[in-house]
Amino acid sequence: MAFPVHRPRRLRRTEALRRMVRETELRPSDFIYPLFVVEGRGVRKPVPSMPGIDNLSVDLAVEEAKRARSVGVASVILFGIPGHKDPRGTGAWADDGIVQKALRALRDSVPELQLLADVCLCEYTDHGHCGVIHGGDVDNDQSLPLLARMAVSCTKAGADIVAPSDMMDGRVGAIRTALDEAGLSGTPILSYAAKYASGFYGPFREAAQSTPQFGDRRGYQMDPGNVREALKEVALDLEEGADMVMVKPALSYLDVVTRVKERFDVPVAAYNVSGEYAMVKAAAANGWIDGPRVMMEILTSIKRAGADLILTYHAVEAAELLDS
Ligand code: PBG
Repeated sequence: MAFPVHRPRRLRRTEALRRMVRETELRPSDFIYPLFVVEGRGVRKPVPSMPGIDNLSVDLAVEEAKRARSVGVASVILFGIPGHKDPRGTGAWADDGIVQKALRALRDSVPELQLLADVCLCEYTDHGHCGVIHGGDVDNDQSLPLLARMAVSCTKAGADIVAPSDMMDGRVGAIRTALDEAGLSGTPILSYAAKYASGFYGPFREAAQSTPQFGDRRGYQMDPGNVREALKEVALDLEEGADMVMVKPALSYLDVVTRVKERFDVPVAAYNVSGEYAMVKAAAANGWIDGPRVMMEILTSIKRAGADLILTYHAVEAAELLDS
């Protein structure tokens, strides 16, 4: 039966009605907040292309994590920016590496916060690639033990979850085996399973100082035209032992989020990446869009598409808004 018996507008008449029938609602605990940690004390270095996001020394990262926790954000993901880079990225698994120091400090000072460690070599290598270079190219198999070492080192320093973002083949299996052998079989892996070679990572690379010094990442990150390949990547990572999977970036890949969610019975995360954040901030600063409104609409769209978890630089701001 159609109009005039059915009038969908009836359920949109008041805010109370709209609320009652709303299908997707955000919670602060949906968000995972990225933190960029640098050496030093009292260091707060703004990232120009990401207004509101700073490179923080460990002491200030602890303060920022407390602020996030106080508005209901339950998890943070850490990215380390080491003082020294080398060809193998040895800072990634150093006992006194920047991420390891941050993990220990956060573990001690904000015990109820869940800590994720991004596992990748690109912030630690002088060439900026996500693995080691051999014969002018990223060597997949030689990179695996190094990534595994980083995962174990971060877990020992206090990470609750490790999140490999390098896109080498076989790294989830290598990390799972290494964790198990180190007696860390209880540590879950959230794999960046479908990570695309994206122009939306620009601001992150400014923040993390991880722009490749030659070439690009198209030889290991996925081609933007592919979705079947994303499903294959997810299936392989799950076979290798991933507990949760991620699609990245989020907005241009919401169809991928939905397809992954429909096909696989595991928690799905989506990364609302730096370029997506920068666009909102830039347009809002110009008065071209209503920033907070667009932020909430974007985050809602990512959850509606099927994401159980959203990695986002908006986490604290959005949680504050939800709180008020
Ligand atoms: C590291 C890594 C990247 C991001 C997360 N982990 C960047 C890259 O692949 O260059 C991007 C996050 C963002 O843009 O917000 N491999």
